[in-house]
Amino acid sequence: MEWRKDAFRIDDNVDLRPRPVLSARKLNRAFYLGAAIYAVHDLDLDVYPGEFVVMRGPSGSGKSTLLSLMAGLDRPTSGRITVDGQDLNDLSEAELADLRRRKIGYVFQFFNLIGHLSARQNVVLPMAFTPAPQWYMDVRAQELLERVGLDHRADHLPGQLSGGEQQRVAIARALANTPSLLLADEPTGNLDRKTATQIADVFHRINEEYGQTCVMVTHDPELTAYAHRVVSMADGTVVDIAPGGRG
Ligand SMILES: Nc1ncnc2c1ncn2[C@@H]1O[C@H](COP(=O)(O)OP(=O)(O)OP(=O)(O)O)[C@@H](O)[C@H]1O
Ligand SMILES: [Mg+2]
Repeated sequence: MEWRKDAFRIDDNVDLRPRPVLSARKLNRAFYLGAAIYAVHDLDLDVYPGEFVVMRGPSGSGKSTLLSLMAGLDRPTSGRITVDGQDLNDLSEAELADLRRRKIGYVFQFFNLIGHLSARQNVVLPMAFTPAPQWYMDVRAQELLERVGLDHRADHLPGQLSGGEQQRVAIARALANTPSLLLADEPTGNLDRKTATQIADVFHRINEEYGQTCVMVTHDPELTAYAHRVVSMADGTVVDIAPGGRG
């Protein structure tokens, strides 16, 4: 039989995109300080596999709160958030912690490395709960450090590394368990211009070469060049979505 598109049409707008890695629907997070302050308010957002999304917006617009909800570090007041189709509201605290370890990589502005552990040991840390043998974790950590250009400093402590080098370690650590989603909150906010560009390049390369889905909060207009989409927030919600430099 000859293929006739209209013979099988179910809906004029069948969505052929892959399933989002992350979906937020009617998401709210309120803090109660006398009156309720909605840090995140009725927010809808989808992030697709392989996307590099930059989030921006004025101070206090809810970016960090949103990232914490995406990471399962915080719970919404109402609404829902799904990661790889899994509704985070359905998970117990222990299950949420497990999902966080397996599916989410998180990079902070101030690196948050463990000071008395070497760069390699910091990268091994998130793998410690997996059944992998120690030699495998060490080899993988070394390879991740190589990927971010820091394999020659694997045995150094964070205090012996520059800010940019510490952030490379933090990125390698975030990638240790092959996360579905790499989240970064102002990862270059504490670095000088040149180092910030180098760190942005690391994120770019990880996204381009390995297809790592990435959501990055940044005030830095230069970093929108790396994004497929730029999501602008104000008053806890999305007010604009525009193509970034690679969109
Ligand atoms: N734990 C908390 N208790 C009370 N209010 C909070 C808390 N965390 C965040 N808020 C409020 O929620 C709003 C959003 O904060 P959030 O840190 O998400 O903003 P942001 O966009 O990340 O800002 P910045 O660019 O300065 O980092 C702010 O009004 C903030 O004061
Ligand atoms: Mg913030």
